[in-house]
Amino acid sequence: MRVVILKNEDEASNFTAEFIEKSIIEKENAVLGLATGSSVLLTYNALIKKHQSDSLSFKNVTTFNLDEYVGLKQGHEQSYRSYMNNKLFNHIDIDKKNTFIPECFDKDYELCCENYESKIKSIGGVDLQLLGLGTNGHIGFNEPTSSLSSRTRVKTLTENTIANNARFFNDNDFQPSIAVTMGIGTIMDANNIILIGLGKHKSKAVADLVEGPISSFYPGSVLQNHQNVVIVLDNLAASDLKLYDYYIHTEKMYLKFMC
Ligand code: GLP
Repeated sequence: MRVVILKNEDEASNFTAEFIEKSIIEKENAVLGLATGSSVLLTYNALIKKHQSDSLSFKNVTTFNLDEYVGLKQGHEQSYRSYMNNKLFNHIDIDKKNTFIPECFDKDYELCCENYESKIKSIGGVDLQLLGLGTNGHIGFNEPTSSLSSRTRVKTLTENTIANNARFFNDNDFQPSIAVTMGIGTIMDANNIILIGLGKHKSKAVADLVEGPISSFYPGSVLQNHQNVVIVLDNLAASDLKLYDYYIHTEKMYLKFMC
């Protein structure tokens, strides 16, 4: 696990965007796994800038999002489809036909989830998966006690997650309490994973993920079992790490000897 600690959220987001850019440059028809939420917003802004100023092209890129709410009407402004269109897809040259989100509008959720898994497989899997981290340690919407080998399915959200995401909904709006999410096994199948954690409110979840025991109670901790994971943090999110100084030192060594 490579732990990269940077000064602030801008530096962490620029690093993450550059990492994604590299993977698109390396493989023109790269398959990206994408996330929603606040932590990835500055990364998406940086990618849009790269598209506009450095002509980074997404023309041949395919994307699979981690999750989507169940129960929102198609096109709802708080759906993750709308989020992705508004925050990224509308501003780059990606073909929207190649952007996939686990949207299940009819009641056959099982089939919808199976189809999502098959679609990912048929395209050869995800090259680089981008992740955020919930304050309760979730990745995607894989809440604590999710099976560490779970596949795409419907999950009931915890009160903590519903409360954290309430800020996106107006007071009297319906807020879903279930969602479809890639499973932890699905996420772990990606060839490379980059997780971004920003802010003091993430520091405990980050410490559990990086230094805690692997446990379904801290779903992100399963990333310790993946061979190609980069955890990108701002100083605040890194502030509860016991081996903070060691990670700063190893990254210096990494840059000196590996790049
Ligand atoms: C949300 C999403 C996750 C996201 C996480 C962190 O509920 N399902 O994909 O990474 O929680 O969100 P944020 O970045 O807004 O803190």
